[in-house]
Amino acid sequence: MHRSATLAVIALALTLTACGSKVEDPVEQIVVRPPGVAAVPAAPAAWDLVAAGKAAFAVCTACHSAEPGGASGIGPNLHGVVGRGAGSVAGFSYSEAMAKSGLTWTESELDAFIANPSGKVPGTEMVAGQVADAQRRAAIIAYLASLKN
Ligand code: HEC
Repeated sequence: MHRSATLAVIALALTLTACGSKVEDPVEQIVVRPPGVAAVPAAPAAWDLVAAGKAAFAVCTACHSAEPGGASGIGPNLHGVVGRGAGSVAGFSYSEAMAKSGLTWTESELDAFIANPSGKVPGTEMVAGQVADAQRRAAIIAYLASLKN
């Protein structure tokens, strides 16, 4: 009886401690504004995901072009890659792993590939260009998705 009462008190104390520390944690603020009201200028056009992605794509351009009809380099041309089958750029010599992956480059497949190329497609010849940061990947993918054929 006594023991379980003590445990209950400890459990309560732990719960309170946990709650207390949660309150101190920084929280993400979501600002709700009525339609038509301009966004606070403190969040400038800087949060243009496509523009951010275009800038972040710089790490890819050593090997990839994303120009329409652009030549493939060390890696295949990536114009219109979102929605396209993996290993499908004519004239590019893919690894067998990529050619036979059977993947379609949806945004989530691209995310997984860019996060860890050889984890997603074991045996791929894309040996660099891994992007660890999820936000950076999201921006790059938004940029690639904005490039229509
Ligand atoms: C060091 C050169 C290099 C860099 C840097 C690089 N890649 Fe690649 N990438 C390749 C190669 C080579 C392939 C072909 C892989 C294969 O055949 O296995 C490839 C393939 C791909 C594919 C599959 C395309 C298709 O047609 O199936 C995507 C998508 C891709 N890369 C995206 C990126 C992105 C996004 C970046 C930048 C974050 C990047 N790559 C950086 C060399 C590179």
